[in-house]
Amino acid sequence: MLSSLRTGIKGLWRVPARSLQTSSVLQHDSLFVHRDTPEDNVNTPFEFSEANKKRIDALLAIYPEGHKRGAMIPILDLAQRQNGGWLPLSAMHKVAEILNLPRMRVYEVATFYTMFIRRPVGKYHLQVCTTTPCWLRGSDAILKAIVEDTKCEVGGNSPCGKFSVSEVECLGACVNAPMLQVNDDYYEDLTVEDTKEIIAKFKKDEKPVPGPRSGRYASEPLGGLTSLTEPPTGPGFGVQDCFKA
Ligand code: FES
Repeated sequence: MLSSLRTGIKGLWRVPARSLQTSSVLQHDSLFVHRDTPEDNVNTPFEFSEANKKRIDALLAIYPEGHKRGAMIPILDLAQRQNGGWLPLSAMHKVAEILNLPRMRVYEVATFYTMFIRRPVGKYHLQVCTTTPCWLRGSDAILKAIVEDTKCEVGGNSPCGKFSVSEVECLGACVNAPMLQVNDDYYEDLTVEDTKEIIAKFKKDEKPVPGPRSGRYASEPLGGLTSLTEPPTGPGFGVQDCFKA
């Protein structure tokens, strides 16, 4: 087998024609670098609102002198929310100025976390998790249904401008896979039909009820409890008699 892979050409190994990787290909298009666009460049104006300035003061007060940079993520989040759900370069610069940090320190954080969106997005940002548990439970079909229904490619915005679609890594709801995040809400235990229903509601600017669609309350077993099924034992359970009062 191995010998069949050997080429003998200049002593190198030939790359097998068949790819050994069979998992789905991540289609997220977020760049880890900035590219100037008309709506996102160093000259794009950005200033925090008066209300957010007060919130920033309150956030900074939590951290002791010398550790103010700990407030970076919540301040970036404020900037993103104020800016319609995405984070322009000029907002990152403003955060660096507030925290008295080199801009690179802010770029490092904003490009690491997919919660920070660095491109203009529509009113409803649909983020589909396609990491292993969600993928095994059918996230590819969910993503396909979303792309078809919204007419929005992964990493892009729909022609109507209302929807944006992103493929993201684990969002921490694996027990309720497959799942979808729309703005701040999670929709879980999804089927393709559920997904279409959710999108139809958003198209009418109605808000579907977030949470699992399977009827369960949270992430308890679907078939009923499998442990802790009896009333809890009282104080002193299992204690030797000689230690009981
Ligand atoms: S793998 Fe999808 S939420 Fe964790």
